[in-house]
Parts: sequence; C-alpha cells; structure tokens
Amino acid sequence: MRGGKILVAGATGRVGGSAARHLLEAGFEVRALVRNADRGESLRSLGAEVALGDVTRPQTLAPPLEGCAGVFSALSSTTDRQAREVEYGGNVSLLSAAREAGARRFVYSSALHADHPMARKVGTFREKARFEEVLFGTGDVSTTVLRPAMFMETLLMALKGPVAFVMAGSDVWCAGSPQTTRPEPQSGP
Ligand SMILES: NC(=O)c1ccc[n+]([C@@H]2O[C@H](COP(=O)([O-])OP(=O)(O)OC[C@H]3O[C@@H](n4cnc5c(N)ncnc54)[C@H](OP(=O)(O)O)[C@@H]3O)[C@@H](O)[C@H]2O)c1
Repeated sequence: MRGGKILVAGATGRVGGSAARHLLEAGFEVRALVRNADRGESLRSLGAEVALGDVTRPQTLAPPLEGCAGVFSALSSTTDRQAREVEYGGNVSLLSAAREAGARRFVYSSALHADHPMARKVGTFREKARFEEVLFGTGDVSTTVLRPAMFMETLLMALKGPVAFVMAGSDVWCAGSPQTTRPEPQSGP
C-alpha cells in the first residue's frame, strides 16, 4: 500500500466512486464515507473500507477519519439549502475533522467557473466557491481544488428534467435546478 489511507467523501456518487476505484487500482488504501451501508457494498467488494457518516452531522466524522492521511471530497447537492448544508457546511466540517485527525492532504472536487460572477446566482456553485476560499486559507493542509467541466452523463439530465445551461466565454457548463423551467425548443438559423 502507498501514500496512507484516503477517505473518499461522496464515494457512492459518480466522481467519488470513480476516484475510489482509481485510488484502489493505484495501490492506496481507501475508506469510503457512506450514509447508507448498503450503498457501500460495491465499494467494499472492490477492497475499500466503508465507514458510516453524514457531513451534515459533524459528530459522525471523527471515526471515519481516524488514521487517514488525506481526503478526496466529491459531495453533491441539489437545492440551495442542501448546497449550504452539504457543499459548504459539510465540507467545512469534513476539513475540520480531517485536520483534527492529522490528515494533511485535502483534494476537493469543485466545478468549472465556480467563482464566476454568474455562478454566484446558483447555490451549488456559490457554496463551492465559499468552500474553496476556506480551503485555500488553510495553512496546515496541502490542498488541491479540481474544477471539472460538465460530464457527459449530466447531459442525460436535460432529457429527464429541467437543467439550466450557462455560457461563460468559450466554455459551457450547467447547473441542475428543480426550479428552472425547460425552454421550448428553438429552431436554429
Ligand atoms: N456530474 C457533473 O457533470 C459534474 C461536473 C462538474 C463538477 N461536478 C461536481 O463534482 C461533485 C460530485 O458530483 P457527482 O456528479 O459525483 O455527484 P453525485 O453522483 O450526485 O454524488 C454525490 C455524493 O455526495 C454524497 N452526499 C450527499 N450528501 C451527503 C451528506 N450529507 N453526507 C455524506 N455524503 C453525502 C452522496 O451520497 P448518497 O449516495 O448517500 O446520496 C453521493 O455519494 C459535485 O460537487 C458536483 O457539483 C459534477
């Protein structure tokens, strides 16, 4: 095993699940933070440890972080309230618990243009940017912020329900929003 044990938060999701699998393949010990033990079974079968915890309940985070050298955080939320509680508050609690446990690396999966002025209008992006600021201000932990663009899987959301697409320069990114009305298809030029 190399590099020490890594706690993956959001390990039952798209990004976190993929990160957990790649870390295991690369020879790291992985502990997956899950809210529901059943959802962690596939990760356990790949060789990850599974620990129960909820980032909105900070008191649940100390045991999962015990003995971890680093954290990979890929939490997600949908509503503005969840964004505040999970993407900002949850990640702050996770970072705090990681520092208390002696973890010295924190890798955070944010999103492209999280700090763009337009993104401030969308809770999930706004709260990501707020957490990035906290993370960059942390002196005793080595931090990495990843800002991926939209994944192809997310395009499927456009077929299943309302999705807001925001153009920024030559990049395109999107934010799912249950409040957004799906526009009528427009005929192109
Ligand atoms: N998908 C994209 O196109 C895309 C593009 C760029 C950036 N990103 C960003 O990358 C990050 C991960 O995205 P994703 O698509 O992988 O999300 P996802 O598939 O929806 O997974 C979200 C994960 O967060 C966990 N979670 C939510 N609330 C939690 C809580 N209170 N305590 C512990 N775990 C909690 C979920 O656990 P449960 O299984 O228990 O619900 C799940 O494992 C997000 O910040 C997203 O904005 C995504």
